Amino acid sequence: MTHHPASPLFPAFPHADQLHHQARLHEAMQRVFDSGRLILGAEVSAFESEFATFLGVKHVVGVGSGTDAIEVMLRALGIGPGSRVVVPAFAPSAVASGVMRSGAEVVFADIDKDTFTLCPDSLDNLLRSPVGRGVKAALVVHLYGHPADWLNLQRVANEHGITLLEDCAQAHGAKWHGRMTGTLGKMAAFSFYPTKNLAACGDAGAVATDDRELAERLRLIRQYGWRERQVSAIHGVNSRLDELQAALLRAKLPWLRESVNQRRRLAALYDARLGSNRRLTTPPVRGGCEHAFHQYVVRCERRDTLLRHLENAGIPVAVHYPVPLHQQPAFGANSTFPTAEAAAETVLSLPLHPHLSEEAVNAVCEVIETLPPSC
Ligand SMILES: Cc1ncc(COP(=O)(O)O)c(C=O)c1O
Repeated sequence: MTHHPASPLFPAFPHADQLHHQARLHEAMQRVFDSGRLILGAEVSAFESEFATFLGVKHVVGVGSGTDAIEVMLRALGIGPGSRVVVPAFAPSAVASGVMRSGAEVVFADIDKDTFTLCPDSLDNLLRSPVGRGVKAALVVHLYGHPADWLNLQRVANEHGITLLEDCAQAHGAKWHGRMTGTLGKMAAFSFYPTKNLAACGDAGAVATDDRELAERLRLIRQYGWRERQVSAIHGVNSRLDELQAALLRAKLPWLRESVNQRRRLAALYDARLGSNRRLTTPPVRGGCEHAFHQYVVRCERRDTLLRHLENAGIPVAVHYPVPLHQQPAFGANSTFPTAEAAAETVLSLPLHPHLSEEAVNAVCEVIETLPPSC
């Protein structure tokens, strides 16, 4: 992916976010250094309970990253070798990697063409086919921050007796019919990678669940399966959220709601400026959904032309994601997923984060409007 140097009009997100919260972040770091505790202490417990309150869920268990969150979530459910897990064919590769780390086999289903989230009909077809045998769960990714079609996915899951899990790495602050994403499935994985809506200053992740027994298993699994020190009760891993990242996340959490609202305001400005542009499609938001706008992604048949045009004008754009998972060598699947493949060829992420100005959004729209008609 092209690296875009930050410019005054287009500050890079993680850095702008750090500068915005600088005083609070320094105070949080100092508190951790003063405490002398670096792993699984008061900051992690406090963050887990504050984030659980934010979501409206009973338990949050901090882990080392979003990919780890997917792995430990599956392990906690006893899903591993011999089981299959469905993931959408259009998603970041971390989604498939996390599942594979649990030992389960990844199988793909296609996405919905408007929201890029798992398509209930494609899931249903898969579960009725021979590949559907052995499927224990589907990992539903709320891609770009748009909640997936939960009602229909749940209907399909109930019919086939599989568990629905959420991947909320891009959906902190999104809502589906008034409920936060992260409270819909049996468990939900979060990433706090530095570009996410709630961003740590390094790798960090968490799993949310209402189930007390699963939360207890997650706590064992994240630390070698220890119930008491040095004695592994079950097979575990090392994936602990550290005190420093937890303290930094606590410093930013009170601003999450407002920062997602700011993303929505900027997205609405893009919609207003670009909605009538016949050469691209702005992202629709399904009824009952509140989009968290981790990314603002337009679709354009001449995507690569538009990409070059914007890059030449110094606009930091990106393609999330250029190669669908089933076409990647590590996950290669012997099938085609037309909607996922079309998405990979047409999507373009325009600059969007809460520290971007309206002036910057207007500048992007002006450059798009100057795309020559011959292109
Ligand atoms: C949808 C999704 N799932 C999982 C992950 C993995 O998170 P992490 O990078 O924290 O391992 C990411 C982030 O890259 C993501 O965007």
